[in-house]
Amino acid sequence: MAGGAKEKNVSIDICAGDSCKEHKSKKLRMRLEALVEEWGLTEEVMIAKCGCLGRCKQGIAAELRPGNKILKELKPKHAERLLEQVITLLKGRSRH
Ligand code: FES
Repeated sequence: MAGGAKEKNVSIDICAGDSCKEHKSKKLRMRLEALVEEWGLTEEVMIAKCGCLGRCKQGIAAELRPGNKILKELKPKHAERLLEQVITLLKGRSRH
């Protein structure tokens, strides 16, 4: 691995729209960012924010890329479970 500005394998885009903000989307994003650091996933997983995903009023919405899978009804307490799912996805893709 050369390091540097390598493209991440997975991106979790957390909605930062008004409705999701009310459901503490920033808290979820910050928790995910902390876990990515803690679990040593900074090379593979990017946490970002995005605009409204059209899934308002159902908790927090997020988009998982690649695949453009929309996740909804998330809460900050779901951060660990969400990241575990992403790790499973990564493992499935990069079998050695
Ligand atoms: S505000 Fe988050 S899905 Fe609309």
